[in-house]
Amino acid sequence: MADYSSTFAFAAPIADASSLQTILDPPMTTGDALANWNGELMPLRDVRVSVLDRAFLFGDAIYEVLRVYRGRPFLEAEHLERLRRSLREIRVSCDVDRLVHRMRETLRLAQVQEGLIYIQVTRGEAPRTHRFPQGDCRPNELVYVEEFTADPYAVPREAGAATVTIPDLRWKRCDIKSVNLLANCLAAQQAAEQGCVEALLVAADGTITEGSHMSAFGVMDGQVLTSPLSPSILPGITRGLLARLAARCDVPLQETSFRVTDLPQLDELFLTGTTSEVLPVVQVDGQAIGTGRPGPVTRALQAAYRQFLEEQNW
Ligand SMILES: Cc1ncc(COP(=O)(O)O)c(C=O)c1O
Repeated sequence: MADYSSTFAFAAPIADASSLQTILDPPMTTGDALANWNGELMPLRDVRVSVLDRAFLFGDAIYEVLRVYRGRPFLEAEHLERLRRSLREIRVSCDVDRLVHRMRETLRLAQVQEGLIYIQVTRGEAPRTHRFPQGDCRPNELVYVEEFTADPYAVPREAGAATVTIPDLRWKRCDIKSVNLLANCLAAQQAAEQGCVEALLVAADGTITEGSHMSAFGVMDGQVLTSPLSPSILPGITRGLLARLAARCDVPLQETSFRVTDLPQLDELFLTGTTSEVLPVVQVDGQAIGTGRPGPVTRALQAAYRQFLEEQNW
């Protein structure tokens, strides 16, 4: 894997050209979103932030993304717990209960049924110096709610997605949901340029840690494998749900990493994420995974995800 050239083999897209285009270029509706900026409601496009905000200068900020189904935030408690943890880890104090109140109010006023909630908290604005600002520095708090009606993953969720392996060049605290996503963005762009839906990130020891913005799971001999929680991966909220769904489906799940060299032995491979849900992967670096079609374990987990939504009345 240290040899980059071998990791960028062309993989033919599985999705048809128009749906792939939607993944690569989602409709630009974000400016229409309703935002709450430090307690003030406004269209997202009207929010103004100082260039001295530490998120702009240093990436000194954390974020969350929640999916809204039928007007209700999905797995809200889990996302808020991760938000609190991220804040703690970067030592920003923020009144999360107040933020939750703003989030719910923004969602109510936006009247969005199928949507996304984005939350970001930065350390705030201060004269540029690496160490934390002395004295008063008020965090900047953003919430916005946008429509998620054109689901870019609808086609690959059915047909399966093509992916590429790319070296994992991120820092050593990937468990913090920080806005420092340059390595993730470079990997996602590389995947898109190769006609793929996602990049699988490969650590120096050959293990597949996760995707650029999704958690990764392999299926081998009836067992689901995924990287254990560690500073090398984000503790995905959908990953957590997946473990519960696997238990319901009587599919054993082991928190054991798999390697690039295991790919030919995998029966199935899939990704999870807040917007992608459970996404089958049928190709990596141009090579088919298993039969080259979404497999029965992935299908069962996709069905369990849908059933969970129905049961919870989402
Ligand atoms: C690196 C990374 N891994 C996994 C995920 C999936 O996490 P979740 O299920 O909470 O959306 C994300 C989501 O953005 C991510 O950025």
